[in-house]
Amino acid sequence: MEKVPNIEGRLRLLGIDMSARMDAKRFLPVFEAHVDRIVAHFYDHMYSFAEARRLFGDPQNVSRLSERQKQHWLRLFSCRFDAEYVRGALHIGEVHYARRVPPYLYLAGYNFFHCELIRLASATITGIEVPPLLAAITRLVTLDMDLALSAYTREHWRAVASAPEDKVEVLSG
Ligand code: HEM
Repeated sequence: MEKVPNIEGRLRLLGIDMSARMDAKRFLPVFEAHVDRIVAHFYDHMYSFAEARRLFGDPQNVSRLSERQKQHWLRLFSCRFDAEYVRGALHIGEVHYARRVPPYLYLAGYNFFHCELIRLASATITGIEVPPLLAAITRLVTLDMDLALSAYTREHWRAVASAPEDKVEVLSG
């Protein structure tokens, strides 16, 4: 697995500074109280599309995947950005490449969580705290998407570099 060389550089690039971290950490208990519902809603939404059903397989997989999904989101919003989080995000990108989840579906997943987080923040927090919180949420979702899709893309480049030209697979969608 390739490691992101400089997570601090990534945090600075995406504007995840101390105040964004404080905003996200303050929001964490609210997120924790709603994360099970949001994750369940995510799988319901995804299962309504044949392409996603095919990828997820047996609905019995959902409880295992839901728990992994939930832990990952809570780790992101704890704002530790430690090796465990970074390794997890990279590994998740690699798993989605290995399972051939097409980028349009993967991005739809991030879109789903991003919108649910905005909705939750707007419904539960009031006043001048809302705009910086929405910005912090956007920065964190983008960080995770960046790490996962960077790992996903590296896996694809590696496969393309080592495959004979006529065997290069193009991801559908
Ligand atoms: C918000 C974006 C997403 C996140 C954060 C996410 C997270 C995860 C996690 C944590 C795992 C378990 C990885 C492991 O086994 O170590 C996983 C597995 C998987 N995800 Fe996602 N996922 C996302 C979106 C999607 C979407 C949109 C699809 C397809 C429609 C998808 C399909 C899969 C598949 C097929 C697996 C492997 C299932 C298995 O091992 O049986 N994911 N995902």
